[in-house]
This record gives sequence, C-alpha cells and structure tokens, in this order.
Amino acid sequence: MATVTYPATCAGTLTEKINSRSARVGVVGMGYVGLPLATEFARAGFSVTGIDLSPEKVDRINQGASYVQDVDSKEFRSLVGERKISATSDFSVIAELDTINICVPTPLRKTKDPDMSYIQAACQEIARYFHPGMLVILESTTYPGTTEEVVLPMLSGNGLKVGKDFFLCFSPERVDPGNPRYQTRNIPKVVGGVTPDCTRIGTLFYSQALETVIPVSSTQVAEMVKLLENTFRMINIGLVNEMAVMCDRMGINVWEVIDAAASKPFGFMPFYPGPGLGGHCIPIDPFYLSWKTRQAGIEARFIELAGYINGQMPHFVVEKIQAALNDRGKPLKGSKVHILGVAYKRDIDDVRESPALDIIHLLIERGAEVSYSDPHVPSIRVDGVELAARKLNGELRTSDCVVIVTDHSSIPYERVVQKAQLVVDTRNALRGIVSDKVIRL
Ligand SMILES: NC(=O)c1ccc[n+]([C@@H]2O[C@H](COP(=O)([O-])OP(=O)(O)OC[C@H]3O[C@@H](n4cnc5c(N)ncnc54)[C@H](O)[C@@H]3O)[C@@H](O)[C@H]2O)c1
Repeated sequence: MATVTYPATCAGTLTEKINSRSARVGVVGMGYVGLPLATEFARAGFSVTGIDLSPEKVDRINQGASYVQDVDSKEFRSLVGERKISATSDFSVIAELDTINICVPTPLRKTKDPDMSYIQAACQEIARYFHPGMLVILESTTYPGTTEEVVLPMLSGNGLKVGKDFFLCFSPERVDPGNPRYQTRNIPKVVGGVTPDCTRIGTLFYSQALETVIPVSSTQVAEMVKLLENTFRMINIGLVNEMAVMCDRMGINVWEVIDAAASKPFGFMPFYPGPGLGGHCIPIDPFYLSWKTRQAGIEARFIELAGYINGQMPHFVVEKIQAALNDRGKPLKGSKVHILGVAYKRDIDDVRESPALDIIHLLIERGAEVSYSDPHVPSIRVDGVELAARKLNGELRTSDCVVIVTDHSSIPYERVVQKAQLVVDTRNALRGIVSDKVIRL
C-alpha cells in the first residue's frame, strides 16, 4: 500500500459522502446477492461498481443485461445506460471507492467445514487498494466471529485503526430469490459493526437504499442472526420431513395434518415436507454454526439430526417411486421416470444443492431411464454428464412415472395427471386433485 494521508475525521467525511449520495459504492461478488444489492444502491442515486472474477458476468453487466431473475431487465439496462452501474474484474478500482459490500460464495468443503477461501481471496485483493475512510461490510453467510477473526486482520495492515480510520460491519443477506413480495429493498437489513461508529455508518449507508435497517450491537450478533434464521428453518423442515415419513407409514395424509394444525392462531407455524433441502443457504449455513460450536466443545445435535433426516429424503422419494412402480407390476430398472422440476424451489432457475440432482443420481444408479423438464432450467449436470431439458408434453404419456420434485407455478398440473400414467408428488402440487394415479409424499 502506498503512503497514505489521513483525513481529519474519516467518520465525518464518509458520513457526509453517504448523506449526499456521492459515496462511490463497490460490490465484490455480483451473483444472486450482489447484483440486486448493487441495483438498489444505483436506484438510490449512488454510482456503483461491481467487481467479479467472472468475465462473462462483467460483460453482461456492462452490456446492461440482468442475469438475476429478481432484477428487472429494463430498469437494469437504463441504470447501466445512465452509468449508475458498471463492472470490472480489476480490483484496483477500489482505490477510488468509498464503500465495499462483500457478497462472495461461502460453500462447505466435502468434510462440511467452512470454505473461507472466497472471502480470503476477496479481502486479499481489497487490502491491496484499501485506503482510509472506507466502509467495508461482509454480507456472505458465515460462522460467528468471521468478520473480526478473518476480515479485520486482513484490513488492519499499515496501522489503520478500525472505527477511526475505516469502518467494518457484518450484515446478513436475507434475499429470497423468486419471492415477489419481499426483495432486497423491503427485507429488513440487520447490521452490526466492530465499533459503535462502524454500526452507525453501516446503518446510515443501508438506510439510503433499503426500507428498514436494524442495527445490532456487534458483528458476532449480526452473524449469528442469519444462522439462527436458517437453522430454525432447517430444523423445522427436518421435523416435518420426519412427520411425513411417520405419516406415510401410518397411512395418514401429512399435508392435511399440517393444514389443520395451521388453523391454530398462535404457537404454530407451518413448515412443509419435501424431497430434501436445496439452495445455497438452508442445507449449508447451519453447518457453519456446528463447525464453530464444535471448536468450543459443544455438539450442535439438533443441526446434525435435522441434516441427517433431510439428507434421507431423496432416498425416501426414490423408495416411493420404486414402490409405486412395483405396485403396477413394473420394476424400477428400465422404467422411464420423468422428473418434473429440478430447481431447488418454485419459480427460480437455481439448481445448487437441489435434491432433484440426488434423486436423478439415485434413479440412474438403480437402472431407471431418467429425463427431466423445467421451464427455468435448460440443462443440468449429474455425475459429470450433461442432461438437456425435454418438453413436458412429449414425456407425459411415454413415461412410466412422472415425479414432481419442484412445484413451479406455470405447470398445468391437471393436464399432468390426465396424461401421465403415474405421478409421484413430493410437493403437494396436486392439492385437491383426486386420482388413483397420484402418490403423495
Ligand atoms: N442466493 C441466495 O439466495 C442467498 C441468500 C442469502 C445469503 N446468501 C449468501 O450470500 C453469499 C453470496 O451468495 P450468492 O448466491 O450471491 O453467490 P453467487 O455464486 O451467485 O455469486 C457470487 C459471485 O462472487 C464471485 N466471486 C467469487 N470469488 C470472488 C472473488 N474473490 N472476487 C470477486 N468475485 C468473486 C463469483 O464469480 C460470483 O459471481 C453467500 O455467502 C451465500 O451464502 C445467498
């Protein structure tokens, strides 16, 4: 880092720049989280630079093409046209920026340990061009302690003091892709800084572009908020998946049970069973917490148990398909099984960790002939082999079994039941349809 001159008060200068929206905003990692966030700050009048290692993403942004479903293409094009958003792979732009939001991936390693390499790589580059007066906010989901144990030391080189010369926060990203009601702008944003000034500046920053900001007392609290939310979902889904297996054994319709239980106006919140967990968050984030607590000598037993139960669901679905075919005198081996929907949830195009991939893998392993259709996903890779989506219409009559794995809302479900020979429904997409052809989870 070159010799630096320290402004009289970094906090004062940065506050002024944020208030006047002249602060130059940077977002590192322009994926499902980064692109919508960058767009909100550009809409609020800031000049935003996205930094991403992917040359394809950088090109598409600079051409004004949104590649995230929830970012309106027309508006995005005009923001790029007005030079409110641009992108680059060159980190040296950081020398000109005032704020950085880090939105890079945080996957798990095969051993279920956190993979911090993306955060570390991003911070290494940021540190090269870091200068006094900057605000840095980590948004990637991670274990409690990451901001102060991993990011802070990387940015504190050259004697810069946090809370005085620069400001560091954690703010969990809560985006819910495909949710038409809650998007980046109206999902309340929790933010916790290393010092009270960090929290104050982080709060001020987000409140320029987002509707509600919730300051908390530390980065660790903000990190833990996200893990509580996602662990809560993962464990409740695990519970209801176990209920589904129990109900199946006892011949009880689990969906009807949940609907009736949900009539209780207090003390109950419905969760629904399904073919297994998917996405970049719910199957992964709780293991960040269990990894960290293990180091403190505490076993996160709820998380491990729910992880096991949820991980068994693709096997349970394959058993149901096999049993349904066998009841009709057909072996699974050699049968044509059509998977309807492979995205990890309804109306999105994301297949990361999708249980459909596990189900397809298990079916192929047992000798089934597998095809798939999904209006949002043109192709997938399973076991290193690329499969192209087929047209649903053509597959309905020729398949021995159609399996609804993702309940996209554009599918004509009544027609599916009319034309198919057998349908296994893992999502209750066929709610209200009575037919001998239908086998429910
Ligand atoms: N997708 C969601 O619904 C969601 C919701 C809440 C939280 N999160 C969390 O947000 C974070 C980002 O998730 P995402 O879904 O946006 O991931 P993503 O894979 O869609 O995007 C990440 C982007 O970072 C880029 N990148 C990787 N390493 C980089 C580096 N060193 N420098 C610059 N760019 C780099 C990648 O090219 C990619 O474009 C993760 O921690 C995730 O857990 C995601």
